[in-house]
Amino acid sequence: MENLAPSEKLILDHSQAAELAERFGTPLYVIDEQCFRNRIRHYLAAFRAAAPSVTLTFASKANSLIQILKIAHEEGCLIDVASEGELRAALHAGIPASDCHFHGNAKGRTELQFAIKSGIGQIMVDNFQELNWHIKHQTPSELMFRLAPGVDPKTHEAISTGQADTKFGFNIGDGSALKAVKMALDAKLNVHGFHCHVGSQLLDPEAQRVGAMQLAQFAIDIYNQTQFLTKELNFGGGLGVEYVRGESPISIDEYCESVCRPVLDLLAPTPIKPVITQEPGRSLIGEQGVTLYQVLAKKTVPTVNGEKTYLSVDGGLSDNPRVVLYGAKYTVLNASRSSDQMSTFTVSGKHCETDTLFADVQLPADTEPGDYIQVLCTGAYNTMMSSNYNRFLRPPTVLITSSDEPKIIQRRESFEDLFARELN
Ligand code: LLP
Repeated sequence: MENLAPSEKLILDHSQAAELAERFGTPLYVIDEQCFRNRIRHYLAAFRAAAPSVTLTFASKANSLIQILKIAHEEGCLIDVASEGELRAALHAGIPASDCHFHGNAKGRTELQFAIKSGIGQIMVDNFQELNWHIKHQTPSELMFRLAPGVDPKTHEAISTGQADTKFGFNIGDGSALKAVKMALDAKLNVHGFHCHVGSQLLDPEAQRVGAMQLAQFAIDIYNQTQFLTKELNFGGGLGVEYVRGESPISIDEYCESVCRPVLDLLAPTPIKPVITQEPGRSLIGEQGVTLYQVLAKKTVPTVNGEKTYLSVDGGLSDNPRVVLYGAKYTVLNASRSSDQMSTFTVSGKHCETDTLFADVQLPADTEPGDYIQVLCTGAYNTMMSSNYNRFLRPPTVLITSSDEPKIIQRRESFEDLFARELN
């Protein structure tokens, strides 16, 4: 592995890539355990330096493989779950439900019952129908209110969630948030605090900072009107990662400082001293994973201006739908050879449609079928968003461990798995 101090990002060297690919097959998701642990430690240290009382929650939607959740919890993270399935993954990992926070803008009533029966730590209340359900059932769990602060982050619209017209949470601006919290206090529910998540893959902290300040101001307003002392403010996740060079997100240290400092200053003259929580996903597990493919075909075709060369690999949109969904870009390396002579290639998948994975990437000019391709920063939102389109088998995840041999933590799907749900 290249020595990228302090070893929070995974890049395989050629021999490591070949060994993993030959042993476990491709496509293959690879996660480095130590990089993941280092990243969580870094985030926690930065966060603790920025605020006196903090909680770090891992957003499990980014990668809820059981072993990954176990590591996150061992390193001191609580777990954010957005479905009964994610909660069950945490329980399978041996994590008590009391260390999990339950999110969702349309929580099923059986999901809620399961979460409460399991002893869920917190529920993020999203809307009046859900709130009325909690009032009716006198839910005993700590309740956090998800608020929509009306902040428009500069990110892809599909992962932008803090704007006023979002489907998530209670709007602060139109008075819904105030009304909801007063209803819950009147009903003597266990109101704990407030939450917002303004968006994902944020490269600067401005939107998050504005969202956090609005949450803090809301806590002050509620205190002034009801004397309720907010116990926790949760600013969500969202810190971006470096998918391609030049797309530099702010550092974790600056991010924590610039989000927490103004909030602490605003609350300083008040008696409100909340625990501050963040719930990152991508920035903890994104850069700690890569995907390996093998090139199966190379084809040069004429274009209006000349020609272009496709490298077709043995995966595609079924193992990484982010490219077609969000226009996501990645750093792509040839994991089998280096060269001074680079050429522009279009790396495409093997699905029966134009599933361009990586357009116009620079790879050694002599890249050939049989070579392995390494795609960086695929630890988050890849295996979790994979599908069986074209009846492809979903790839395995291998964990590089510091103590042991690389370990398969999710095996490759089998054809038996593929047909297991179908009835004759
Ligand atoms: N908390 C809440 C309530 C969220 O909705 C999310 C992400 C997070 C935390 C974690 O955000 P992160 O730190 O990972 O940015 N599939 C998309 C990402 C969707 C994120 C949705 N919510 C993608 O592949 O980019």
